[in-house]
Amino acid sequence: MTKKLYISTYGCQMNVYDSARMADIMAPLGYSLTEKPEGADMAILNTCHIREKASEKTFSELGRLRNMRSKKLDRDDGDMVIAVAGCVAQAEGAEIMKRAPYVNMVFGPQSYHLLPQMVAQASRGAGHILETDFPVDAKFDHLPSEAIDTNLSAFLTVQEGCDKFCAFCVVPYTRGAEFSRPVAHIVAEAKRMIAGGTQEITLLGQNVNAYHGTLESGASATLAELIYRLAELDGLKRLRYTTSHPLEMSEDLLRAHRDVDVLMPYLHLPVQAGSDRILDAMNRRHTAQEYRAIIDKLRDYRPDLALSGDFIVGFPGESDKDFEDTLQLVRDVDYAQAYSFKYSPRPGTPAAGLDGQMIPEDVKSERLAELQRLLNAQQLAYNQSFVGREIKVLLEREGKRDGQLVGRSPYMQSVFVPSPSHRIGRIATVIVQEGNANSLRGELKPGNVADAA
Ligand code: SAH
Ligand code: SF4
Ligand code: F3S
Repeated sequence: MTKKLYISTYGCQMNVYDSARMADIMAPLGYSLTEKPEGADMAILNTCHIREKASEKTFSELGRLRNMRSKKLDRDDGDMVIAVAGCVAQAEGAEIMKRAPYVNMVFGPQSYHLLPQMVAQASRGAGHILETDFPVDAKFDHLPSEAIDTNLSAFLTVQEGCDKFCAFCVVPYTRGAEFSRPVAHIVAEAKRMIAGGTQEITLLGQNVNAYHGTLESGASATLAELIYRLAELDGLKRLRYTTSHPLEMSEDLLRAHRDVDVLMPYLHLPVQAGSDRILDAMNRRHTAQEYRAIIDKLRDYRPDLALSGDFIVGFPGESDKDFEDTLQLVRDVDYAQAYSFKYSPRPGTPAAGLDGQMIPEDVKSERLAELQRLLNAQQLAYNQSFVGREIKVLLEREGKRDGQLVGRSPYMQSVFVPSPSHRIGRIATVIVQEGNANSLRGELKPGNVADAA
């Protein structure tokens, strides 16, 4: 009999990847995924701890699940196992057990390969299960090898954890020390994905460009070397990687953007702030000028590269002048898109202890609004610059409107086109007609029709 598994995913793409692997692991136990939590036999919240808001969602969502479980029990429809996974589980496992004692199991991002054991324990009524160790043997070795992600565009985690310890960030504590998967394992997984229909792979890591996995020879490979290996795989049309740290943008990686055709011209390279004083206080270990120099080099090698970034406003001690430096950096770089956040003090991180220097909430809000006005204007101008141009779009799925498909441009823009659905999976030439804040609209180039792909 099949059981229903509900997984709700918060946070970054690594959580998206992990959720897919949890589904893979649970499938042989008779669980199939369901879109809605009502009636599920098991519900997993895969949580994010990065900012306070993200973290608090865990508890409100748990409250809702608790109600659904009661209703299920009242209907005599069996129990619902409630599990908390991911970064909040890692950081606040004991707290979750205390605040929400109805939760059956709590496990961190490095422990989900133990799900079969944990589920068996729970069904024996073993009480609360808490798994938040960082096991020495990597979870990746325990993932089912037959599972394949058949999404046209899919994630592949190649590196996990972080040793950078930026002063504001919980990731080094929730994901642990940096770890890179061996090249052979990644190549094998990529081949399975391609055999299952994947055309675009995004290599994932909290610090993906610090990748240093072992080769068959025992030597260690850089991310660029891994990219060259994957680029040779038949059937792989597009390759991307995220997220990178400026300190790790090595020369071979910069050159890969010039030399590797399948490597898409888009890079997410967070800088966080434009003031050297703040960058230093954040422990980012580079200056704004060094970041600009990397961007210049990247643009020399790949003039059409689309750039994306992350910014934090209101880091403790940030003055008006510091903030102005961030705005200036944004003006200089001219981003295709970016993410920006108000600084959120996180328990246990060094910056959370800078009590006297906290920036008032209203100042943070004003700065965020100003930064976002600038970033939004850049993004709109960027998208509008495509009007009249031809771009290649990997048509991924149906859009909201009838007869419409949506896909991605090489530059990561969402592109909407009127097209019959049998073209899903093709890389079509699209003539762009409209550039909007968050997407492009266009038409298939007549005669081209996608069959080129
Ligand atoms: N490893 C990636 C992603 C880290 S989390 C990287 O190094 O870029 C994603 C983004 O969340 C960060 O880039 C940062 O901009 C933001 N962030 C992290 N901690 C934060 C905090 N305490 N408050 C506000 N934003 C934060
Ligand atoms: Fe967090 Fe910094 Fe590591 Fe990114 S590099 S995950 S921001 S500690
Ligand atoms: Fe959030 Fe953990 Fe990712 S804290 S951003 S889910 S690594």
